[in-house]
Amino acid sequence: MILVLGAGGQVGSELVEKLRAKHGKDKVVATDIRETENQEGPFEVLNALDQEKLREIVDRYKIEEIYHLVALLSATAEKQPEFGWKLNMETLFTVLDLAKEGKIKKVFWPSSIAVFGPNTPRQETPQHTVTDPTTVYGISKLAGERWCEYYAKNYGVDVRSIRYPGLIGYKSLPGGGTTDYAVDIYHKALESKSYECFLQKGTYLPMMYMEDAIRATIELMEAPSESIKIRSSYNLGGISFAPEEIAAEIKKHIPEFEITYAPDFRQKIAESWPGSINDTAAQQDWGWELHFDLKKMTEDMLKTLNKV
Ligand code: SER
Repeated sequence: MILVLGAGGQVGSELVEKLRAKHGKDKVVATDIRETENQEGPFEVLNALDQEKLREIVDRYKIEEIYHLVALLSATAEKQPEFGWKLNMETLFTVLDLAKEGKIKKVFWPSSIAVFGPNTPRQETPQHTVTDPTTVYGISKLAGERWCEYYAKNYGVDVRSIRYPGLIGYKSLPGGGTTDYAVDIYHKALESKSYECFLQKGTYLPMMYMEDAIRATIELMEAPSESIKIRSSYNLGGISFAPEEIAAEIKKHIPEFEITYAPDFRQKIAESWPGSINDTAAQQDWGWELHFDLKKMTEDMLKTLNKV
């Protein structure tokens, strides 16, 4: 049995669907802090900070694998630093401890490009490099990576992780991230043919289409344990682009589309993150391969959102 924490979020909603299609509807227990619609299998309302209830759910459903997707993202955590730290860290410890005690066999926990900072090489950022995050979110992800590796090395915990780039999907909206503009822009392009971007022209960030991100997550979790050589978190490169480039791609489909720029506090966060990522370790260790580029992603996003 598989448990997904944060199943109502941007990644969770798509991951649950894929896992249920793969393993069967009843084999995946979805949890979220609030009721989420369209659940086609077991669902529990759970505040992941409620350790007792989380443990009870693990026992009751005889859970073997946990996908821990609960977090405050970069922009939101800057507004509530203490709570961001508490939520991101305490919930990770609960899950790692369940694995340490042998109650569950495998853990997925996402890290992020937010572990990098102003002194990290910005282009083709290597797997092992300077990590000096400036956000509470980034600090929590970096600390989390260190703890994952510690639990793997010292307690034999099978924990696996990816440093997600900005994720772009049509099923649900992201909440409180710095890379969210790249999702919002598609919605606004269709609704009003214009978009005011909260990042400046020329701000390159690594991004990835949700379909690739979900496939990466499942492939990583299915890879034989011996091939997972990195137990902190794997770099994943994805697609690197700036706001004007995604706008130009949208214009090919919607010629009247216009982008304007009104950068806010998120500009500073974006500037502290890499523009592109080197993911050769993921390619070599578990065969990672990207399928969607900016053109293909834009075609798919606009086509699908248009139907909704
Ligand atoms: N997409 C996330 C954010 O912007 C980064 O992991 O916060």
